[in-house]
Formats: sequence, structure tokens, C-alpha cells
Amino acid sequence: MSDTVSFFRAWMSNPLRVASIVPSGQALAEGITREIGFDQAPVIELGPGTGVFTRQLMENGVPEDRLVLIEYGANFATLLRNRFPKSTVLQADAAAALSQQFKVGKAGAVVSGLPILSMPTRQAFAILDGAFRNLRPGGAFYQFTYSLRCPVSRYVLDQLDLKAQRISWVLANVPPAQIYRFTKRRPRSAEQV
Ligand SMILES: C[S@@+](CC[C@H](N)C(=O)[O-])C[C@H]1O[C@@H](n2cnc3c(N)ncnc32)[C@H](O)[C@@H]1O
Repeated sequence: MSDTVSFFRAWMSNPLRVASIVPSGQALAEGITREIGFDQAPVIELGPGTGVFTRQLMENGVPEDRLVLIEYGANFATLLRNRFPKSTVLQADAAAALSQQFKVGKAGAVVSGLPILSMPTRQAFAILDGAFRNLRPGGAFYQFTYSLRCPVSRYVLDQLDLKAQRISWVLANVPPAQIYRFTKRRPRSAEQV
């Protein structure tokens, strides 16, 4: 089955969770991963779907066995295990999965394809909080959005002491998307890490 068909089927069965009828395009995959390569490994990806960003991360030099892929959809998780057998694929809710520490160690980057804008504040908070607990100092969280505004509320940013920067507009995607990078406003001290 083609990725477009499996994506459309997944969207039909849960439009809110899948949030798009087609996988992201190559321009968005290149944009959201452009600051990530070997030095950022291990890398955590949230909501990889069919693995468009995963493939690009590997293309950028992130070793497959240093990727943690967290995907709620069972069919997508099976497809990811077949496609990226050396990666760690967790079929789980991102907030729950991020409450643990991963064997591969602290990540240099988290890449998210989650529909975070439409999530309740408590869920968005848990995802970002868990992500930053799994990131090493200086690590960054990357998120795309189809919205014109920042996909994370001011409340969540302030509670977690995060800075949001829009790093790119990808007009070549359908629909066009913006890419945000979230980082800690102040570097964490050793005992907070
Ligand atoms: C908009 S799609 C993005 C897929 C892929 N990253 C892309 O850009 O083509 C959202 C993905 O997030 C997954 N997802 C949604 N909510 C989730 C959650 N709470 N935990 C883990 N995955 C989730 C969906 O199953 C879907 O694969």
C-alpha cells in the first residue's frame, strides 16, 4: 500500500489524531531536520507516521540505531518497525512515553509531527516537559504547524521556561507550514539535568 493511501486511511479512522490527509513533503522534511545531524544523536521523533522525517534524519547522518520513534498509531508503528528495524519504535502516546528515560541516552534534538496545537494544554505541557527531560543541555525541540501562530501557548512556554523561534516557512508543502524551534531560555545547571 502506498504511503499516501495508508495515511489517508489513518486520517479516516482518526482525523484529529492524524491531522493531515497526506504525509509531509520533502521540503518540510528537509526544513524541520536541517539543524540536526550526527552531532545531535540520539534523536527522538514524535508522531513519525510513515517516516518522512525519519528518512531525512538518517540522510543527515543520524544513525538508525540512535533514533527513538514514538508513534501512537498501531499500523504506522508496524510500518516504522519494518522500515527502520535498528531504531527503537514505541507504539505509545507521546506524553506517556516521554515520562521515561531512554536507554540510548539524552537526545540532542526532538522532532515532532504531533498535532500539538489542537491538544489540551495539559497534554502539550506533558509532552514538552517530558521532551526537555530527555534532552541534554542545549538540545532543541522542533515542531511544524499549519497555523499562523505559535503552536505552543504562552502559558506552557512560561511554565517550562522555553523560548519559541520560528525558523522557517515552507511554502512548498501542502498545506504550507511553519517550523518552530523551542529551547530553554536559560541553560540548566548540572543538578537540573
Ligand atoms: C500530522 S501526522 C505527521 C506524520 C509525519 N511526521 C509527517 O509529517 O508526515 C501526526 C502523527 O502523529 C501521530 N500522533 C498523534 N497523536 C499522537 C500521540 N499522542 N502520541 C504519539 N503519536 C501521535 C499520528 O498517529 C500521526 O502519525
